[in-house]
Amino acid sequence: CGIVGYTGSGSATNVLVSGLKRLEYRGYDSAGVALELADGSTPGCVLDVVRSTGKVAGLEEELEAHHSNATCGIGHTRWATHGRPSVKNAHPHTSCDGRIAVVHNGIIENFAELRDELKSRGHQFKSETDTEVFAHLIEEAYDRHRAEPDALMAAVREACTFVVGAYGLAVVCADEPGTIAVARKDSPIVVGCGPDGSYVASDVIALIDATRDVVVLEDGQFACLTPQGIEYTDEQGRSIRPQVTHIDWDIDMAEKGGYPDFMLKEIFEQPRVVRDTLVGRLAPTGELDIDELGLTYEQLDVIDRVYVIACGTSYHAGLIAKNLIEGWARIPCEVEAASEFRYRNPIITPSTLVVAVSQSGETADTLAAIRDARIKGAKVFGITNVVGSPVARESDGVIYTKANKEIAVASTKSFIGQVVSLTLLALLLGQVKGKLTTAQVRMLFHELGDTAEQIQWVLDTQKEAVHEAALACKDARSALFVGRGMGAAISNEGALKLKEISYLHAEAYAAGEMKHGPIALIDPGFPVIAVATKSPTYDKTVSNLKECEARGARIIAVATEGDEDIRKVADHVIYVPAVRDALSAITATVPLQLLAREVAILRGCDVDQPRNLAKSVTVE
Ligand code: G6P
Repeated sequence: CGIVGYTGSGSATNVLVSGLKRLEYRGYDSAGVALELADGSTPGCVLDVVRSTGKVAGLEEELEAHHSNATCGIGHTRWATHGRPSVKNAHPHTSCDGRIAVVHNGIIENFAELRDELKSRGHQFKSETDTEVFAHLIEEAYDRHRAEPDALMAAVREACTFVVGAYGLAVVCADEPGTIAVARKDSPIVVGCGPDGSYVASDVIALIDATRDVVVLEDGQFACLTPQGIEYTDEQGRSIRPQVTHIDWDIDMAEKGGYPDFMLKEIFEQPRVVRDTLVGRLAPTGELDIDELGLTYEQLDVIDRVYVIACGTSYHAGLIAKNLIEGWARIPCEVEAASEFRYRNPIITPSTLVVAVSQSGETADTLAAIRDARIKGAKVFGITNVVGSPVARESDGVIYTKANKEIAVASTKSFIGQVVSLTLLALLLGQVKGKLTTAQVRMLFHELGDTAEQIQWVLDTQKEAVHEAALACKDARSALFVGRGMGAAISNEGALKLKEISYLHAEAYAAGEMKHGPIALIDPGFPVIAVATKSPTYDKTVSNLKECEARGARIIAVATEGDEDIRKVADHVIYVPAVRDALSAITATVPLQLLAREVAILRGCDVDQPRNLAKSVTVE
């Protein structure tokens, strides 16, 4: 999602529309603005809120009819996470009296409690979004601070104290024309002053036409924008002097957040994806809370067979899920390419659960398989990144992966979101089936959350190791990815990533199967990439690697931090932190993504737009 705001002497409509267009590449399903219009009542104004679904161009057309001469306003382009795309769910959201409007990025974890409390005090809600609670909280707080000179800022600061979660927030109030109140916690916000006024955005790209000297707000910092300038305060309202950053990126770099390509940007977003996908999923009672489930515990309890159906990278997330669903819930689970599933005659009964995994939610084969499964009487559960997508609409229940829009064709952060969501589903099934206790679920849930930091550790420390390993692969004609158990499942995704973006032939094989064929391929220098993290089959995997080493293979191992022994067999080692085997897919995939990208770059390939591939495939 994207936020923009402007207050100054120029046309707010123009600044907001061009800012929103700059942010549009990150995804849109709706957009909206709140503009301050003079109504003759000094010192107040009225807020003109205009929202539409679809692209910003649609909003722009609507705004043309308004001929607004507003010089202050806020705008938003939305990628739905709470509530389906619609005008009613588009930002800005307003208070009951329409005198306060907010745009918000992030997720409010305790929104259900806050909404219930606000409703009990008479507030009426107009949308299904979590954001709307901010408008109502600020409305109440504003009444308490009305007499103060900086009432809006004080109200925003107070409202933030009630909210648990992440927010980048910009707020306008009809009683304080020309002022925009801004807050930030765990969701980016930048502000800056240009010759014609003050600006706020969730991303520098929306600001760099106006100014290149910006302040990147830190968590707990607040900014008050007026046409004359910006004042900064902390949570207590004390004045602060934040650091100014000069941005010398061009537009292309700015879109990628300063990363050289979208793929790397998205790989670096993965810790956030883990956190966002888990937000609000564990109730205080220790039970898992998946409110969009669509199936009752009783309906889940009868399930005696699971099929995971998907395509491409999503299919690999399914391979990981199989290990978890069978391991934790003891329900037989098969994983099938959607394009195969529908042309077989799979055994489906009313106690069969079909889990359809699709980033885009619109892959033709996956959709066709869902329809087929439903006709045959299965319950269908969707895992997708796109709210309101066909997969979400046609399934009985859904978990959203909260990866936000993925731009690079080769999927990375969506895969991590899928694995986290499928892990949640496996935990839930384990709990429903009585195979996991509440205490075990809680422990595993927390360990799942810890993978966010563990991914960050890989990103922060393994760059050099990845580069060295990539040099060893770049001139190869072919590569083998091997592992056992979870490692075998992850190897499939490693090989696919390498194929997709570096055009190097790669194949994944269960390490124990090497001796039955693929080992014939190995000659001196042949790259073998092994997932050899600490697991019950670690020693067996190492034995298989010795067989490869003896034939001259060049071995690259993804291994557990601290494992020095692996160096006896591996030429290159990329480390990941120690995690429970069941959760190892999340951390061990990251080095393989980085490796594929690095090899592709060394080979001069376009990592974001590989040849012959499409981001979503809507034909069979
Ligand atoms: C295309 C993409 C892949 C993706 C696959 C399935 O082939 O290039 O990255 O994994 O479709 O897409 P879905 O949106 O259903 O996950």
